Parts: sequence; C-alpha cells; structure tokens
Amino acid sequence: MNDKKTVVVGITGGIAAYKVADLVSRLYKNGFNVQVVMTEHATRFISPLTLRTLSNNPVMVDMFDESGNHKVQHIGVAEEADIVVVAPATANIIARMACGMADDLLSTIILATRAPVLIAPSMNTNMYDKQVTQDNIRTLKNRGVMVIDPSEGALACGVTGRGRLPEIETIYNRTIEVLEGRHRDLTGKTILITAGATQEDIDPVRYITNRSTGKMGYALASEASRRGARVLLVSGPTALTDPEGVEIWRVRSAREMNDICQELFDQVDVVIGAAAVADYRPLDYSELKLKKSDDDLVIRLARNPDILEGLGQRKKHQILVGFAAETNDLVQNARQKLNKKNLDLLVANDLTAEGAGFAVDTNIVTLLFKDGTEKNLPCLSKSEVAGIILDTVLEIQGS
Ligand code: PMT
Repeated sequence: MNDKKTVVVGITGGIAAYKVADLVSRLYKNGFNVQVVMTEHATRFISPLTLRTLSNNPVMVDMFDESGNHKVQHIGVAEEADIVVVAPATANIIARMACGMADDLLSTIILATRAPVLIAPSMNTNMYDKQVTQDNIRTLKNRGVMVIDPSEGALACGVTGRGRLPEIETIYNRTIEVLEGRHRDLTGKTILITAGATQEDIDPVRYITNRSTGKMGYALASEASRRGARVLLVSGPTALTDPEGVEIWRVRSAREMNDICQELFDQVDVVIGAAAVADYRPLDYSELKLKKSDDDLVIRLARNPDILEGLGQRKKHQILVGFAAETNDLVQNARQKLNKKNLDLLVANDLTAEGAGFAVDTNIVTLLFKDGTEKNLPCLSKSEVAGIILDTVLEIQGS
C-alpha cells in the first residue's frame, strides 16, 4: 500500500528515542509522508536534524513555531494524520495522555487528532510496573489507544526486565496493520462475554460469591471491541471501569446472568464465558435478616443452571469458549469441561501459579482444543491473553 498516507511519529524523551530513526527512515522509504513531532526532552536524546534528514520533512517541537504549512499548526497536523505513533512513549506522556493534557505540541496533537493512536511504551521496569502507570495504560486502552507492550531484556538503566522498546520491525508492522485496517479483524462479529463473579443472596444483607474481579472478562471485552467486534458484556458486580464501546448488562446472580445469555444467544457468533459463575445458591432466600443463635447454621444450597452447558446444547454456528479455574489436575479437569459443555476452546488457569487467575493483571493459561491438542502460554498480561484467545477464535472459525 502506498497512497501517501501521513504518519505522525511522536518521539518522547527516553533513551530508546535514537532507535526511532530507523522507523522514520523505513516509513519514508516506503513512501509515507512522515511528520516527526518531538518533545523538548526527546531532542536531548536524538537530534531533530537527523530526523529531518530521514523524513525529508521539518521536525516539529515548538508549539508556537509558525514556520509550518498550517494556519493553526497543531490542529493542521492532527487533521492531516492517518495515524499517530508515539515511540518511545515515556511514563510521562502516557500519564499526560490519560489525563487529557495538552501542554506541549505532541500532547496537543494527540488530543486533537481523530486518527488512530498507537503507542510503544518504553521505560525503566519499576516505572512501568508502578500501579499508576499500569492504570494509565489501561485507561488509554479502554479509550481505544493501541498499545504495543514493551519487551523484556537489559535496560539502559542497568536493570533487566520489562520496559524495552519493542523491535522497530514490530512497531512498523503494527503501524501498517492499522493503516490497512487489519487491526479491525473482528468487524462484523458479535461476541457475548461473561465476566466477574455472581452473588447469590442468603438474606437481604448476605450473599455467597467468589474472588473474580472481572479483569479477564473486561480485558476480552476491551480487546474485542478495539478489534471491531460488537461486544455484549454480561457482567457480575465489579469495581472496573466500563470498557469503551461495549454494550453492558449488569447482573448479580447466576440465574440473572443465564437469562440474559440465553436471550442474546441467537444473535451472537462467539460466546466467551470468563465469569466465575456460582454453581450453587441458597435453596431458601430469607426475606428477613437471619438471626444468629448459639447453634451452627446450616444453609442448603441448590444447583444453579450451567450457562455454558445450556448454550452448548443450543449451539448452531456459534463458537463457544469456556474458562476453567482449577487448583489440581488442571488439564484433566479442564478437558472434562470442554467435552461436557460442548465447547470449541477451553482456557484453563492454574489457580496455584503465581501471576495466574483471580484479581491479578496477568494470567498463565493453557488452551485446550477439541481435537485433543493443547497449547501452554507463558505469563502474559490479561490483555495479551485476551488477544491470543481472540486470534484463536478466528483460526477456529476459519478452519
Ligand atoms: O475475574 P478475574 O479476577 O480476572 O479472574 C479471572 C478468572 C480466574 C475468573 C477467569 O480467568 C476464569 O477462570 N473464569 C472461569 C472461572 C470458573 O468459574 O471456572 P469453572 O471451572 O467453575 O467453570 C467452567 C466454565 O463454565 C467457565 O467458563 C464458567 O464461566 C462456566 N460456567 C460455570 C458455572 C456455571 N453455573 N455456568 C457457567 O457457564
């Protein structure tokens, strides 16, 4: 492809800034109009003259420089952009973007543009792992900003860990993917996702629940929506922010979740059951708060409907994906669920592994397929796991 699309390359002040010269050069050589915008700090790491020479375009740094072609410089560039790629994206620009700040030329262009924005975070591992940085990245993802996760390795500050700028080739390929619309590969698909825990009432003040926070299900919803799917999210109570662009049904009990899923099923292409649905509920709900006595209390539990199993029985063209949260005999137990519920894919998490399962931002899963094969994934962020599950769904649909 080459119809003189404009790529705005935003460079911020990190040591990896020098590597971006290669990105600029590749884009220019492949016929793109490349507009480099640097922060003041970035100019300390690589000279604007280098980037001007490689892009064959004046480099923009100063918000109030009037030498450019546009009447209002930052708006003109924001409108002209077909994509804005920020590499390296420091913790600082990520925080400013998450707050909607526009206090220099680059952040103003990012706020003003309607073009897709792709960022490649790169920074010291501790800065990257800090909760505030992770929260900011999640906020940006939820708002549709595309993020290329940093790679692991030796960093300039002397430590080894996550925070390295991804290979320039990866950034270049993702840029082209976005420009060609390939990142919207779920367009036209409707995906039903369940997330979070259910709550099963005992009396007006007490209920039975579990430790699911909804993070895995919300990561799936966010990723599927970003890739163009229509996402129907049926969520148990959670403290998470609604993912951008998804339709949400909020429920409390397994029976409520089941009713909505059964109702929506005919209109969907894919179902992903990431919710931790309570298998049992109190048999008798007490309208009045139960009083304590000196005796032990026995609560009889009744079986809840199995949502996925019910959908598995009704399945026509739909792809069904289940999760299994196990503490022992992971693959054996998970495979039983795959078969019993008539699923196409089962994502098994080993709850005993650190960095897997409930509440954490990462997951370690094994994918189990109907043909008896399986695939182990390393510890990845829940967004990355979500991306791989969605890729796998597309492969199953295409096979
Ligand atoms: O929400 P997080 O804090 O991010 O944690 C993520 C997670 C660990 C909850 C998630 O990754 C996960 O494993 N979800 C499924 C947990 C679970 O309930 O597993 P299960 O083995 O009990 O159920 C198997 C499958 O059947 C699941 O897809 C479940 O959604 C579904 N199910 C279970 C019971 C039921 N009554 N109806 C169902 O549809």
